[in-house]
Amino acid sequence: MLSKNLLKKLNKQVSLEFYSSNLYLQMSAWCDHKGLEGAARFLKAHAAEEMQHMQKIFDYIQDTGALAIIDAIEKPIAKFKDLKEVFEITYKHEKMITTQINELVDLSLAEKDFSTFNFLQWYVAEQHEEEKLFKSILDKIDIIGLEGRGLFMIDKEVGSIQLG
Ligand code: FEO
Repeated sequence: MLSKNLLKKLNKQVSLEFYSSNLYLQMSAWCDHKGLEGAARFLKAHAAEEMQHMQKIFDYIQDTGALAIIDAIEKPIAKFKDLKEVFEITYKHEKMITTQINELVDLSLAEKDFSTFNFLQWYVAEQHEEEKLFKSILDKIDIIGLEGRGLFMIDKEVGSIQLG
């Protein structure tokens, strides 16, 4: 059975994963609007992944016999300076999500809720991959740059990334 505190924090994580999905979908729309088809495709696929992250936690809460609650979801940012800013925001956002997951892990251990601790291990591994992925895109932007053909190359490169 989930403690009141852990349930509250897991429900908060449901909202955060929803927000991640909305943020990436909004970024995808901006990229598409700017003719950046590769980045738009990648971010749209990533938005769908975030919905899976949300659903997994939602289902886990329900499976414990507790009630999953969908809270109001914050409006995502919709306009960006350039593609570098888009990926700087994603990287920062993923680091924040990792912190939240780590806090959940910490709490589940403190409460000796080993079922939830075990459930969260998937998210620990996933966050490692997500941070690595977004950092690698930022590294490519730094190496290639967004000037001239650079933007075209980065967009193509990002669009070729296979998710999942
Ligand atoms: Fe659900 Fe990108 O973390």
